[in-house]
Amino acid sequence: MAVQQQVTAGVHNGLTAKPALRAADPELAALMDDELTRQEETLELIPSENLASVAVLEALGSWLNNKYAEGVPGKRYYGGCQVVDEVENLARDRCRELFGADHANVQPHSGSQANMAAYASVLSPGDTVLGMALDQGGHLTHGSAVSFSGRLYNFQAYTVSDTTGRLDYDEVRARARQVSPKMIVAGYSSYPRLLDFAAFEDIAREVGALLLVDMAHFAGLVAGGAHPSPVPHADFVTFTTHKTMRGPWGGVIMCRAAHADAVDKSVCPGTQGGPQMHAIAAKAVMFKQCQGPEFRTYAHQVVSNAAALAWGLASRGIELTTGGTDNHLMVIDLRPFNLRGRAVQTAFDEVGITVNANAFPGHGGTPYNPNGIRLGSPSVTSRGMGEAEMDEIADLVSRMLRDFDDQTTRALVRQRSLALCRRFPLPYRS
Ligand SMILES: Cc1ncc(COP(=O)(O)O)c(C=O)c1O
Repeated sequence: MAVQQQVTAGVHNGLTAKPALRAADPELAALMDDELTRQEETLELIPSENLASVAVLEALGSWLNNKYAEGVPGKRYYGGCQVVDEVENLARDRCRELFGADHANVQPHSGSQANMAAYASVLSPGDTVLGMALDQGGHLTHGSAVSFSGRLYNFQAYTVSDTTGRLDYDEVRARARQVSPKMIVAGYSSYPRLLDFAAFEDIAREVGALLLVDMAHFAGLVAGGAHPSPVPHADFVTFTTHKTMRGPWGGVIMCRAAHADAVDKSVCPGTQGGPQMHAIAAKAVMFKQCQGPEFRTYAHQVVSNAAALAWGLASRGIELTTGGTDNHLMVIDLRPFNLRGRAVQTAFDEVGITVNANAFPGHGGTPYNPNGIRLGSPSVTSRGMGEAEMDEIADLVSRMLRDFDDQTTRALVRQRSLALCRRFPLPYRS
């Protein structure tokens, strides 16, 4: 199947054989074997995780690791950058082309670093920013008190509607008028619905704010044409490359031309030193893969699979926040089962289904032990699974929640999850 082919393309023995590593550090090599087995034998439903392709991993595990290249292509602080300049230009150009952006900086080490640098390019400490709080579906870097964002800037929160669990753009507008932010942040870690980027743009213009869209979660869906793009609407768009993009661990900032210099300086020397050239090379490979027809098929399948999983859960009487999903993720309300997220996450680990405990708006619990779990389709879709398998997974989840303490159920679910994993193997084994 096309989706699976792209992940496996280029597979060869080297990826798992690792003779030098096995000789130099057998203890670590054994742990890597264990982790590969764990990934092979579990259904990965954490919506922010995925399978990087073999080609991406080959670029990542390479001698490009050896090069220091502070600065940007053509203006480096180190000699010997002729080749890595070309590598970074490839990644930047492919990124701009893929998303139709004026400018891209592909150096951020992660999504958090991308946000940190994007904020610092135009904000001063103490400036007011409006974002979606963590317990509403936002991310730590959208103003949480325990993150640099909440400590450096005066973050104010907009919330989802109490009744629908969805964003009400009149309420967001009213909140923006009230706090007069210098920047508005749109984006989420656990909101299962599309965002109205035109509405955010209109609100930002009305109150004289800059708009940053953090598409860390849904960048791959945008790249594959399965989700509207925020790029025409936003001054800044940040994203991670390891989630729906199926690339190496990392972040990217895109922005309008007017902010290009400020963004580049804010990444280095503002918030980072040397770029990780091996990761940038892997990002270049990922962007190329995202431009192809197989990736479009993949992105659409992620959305269809999430819809099928949500339907399978809902039809078995499981309540989802907002009643379903438009994207790649969903959040189950555990209160009807009288269960909490942490215990469910641990029990699911036991039966080979990986999920994460997740808060949802206004329903109590603690950040460590919330009342929900978050599920998503990106990783199982990369394995080649389709709607029929989503229904099977919905059945396993439902059985676990209904007969939570029943050991026979757990044994049966483990058997079925393993059988599913074996039918859709990972691409890394030689
Ligand atoms: C919306 C959003 N922004 C930023 C990040 C941060 O990414 P990273 O973990 O790479 O720092 C995440 C990660 O989950 C996220 O969901």
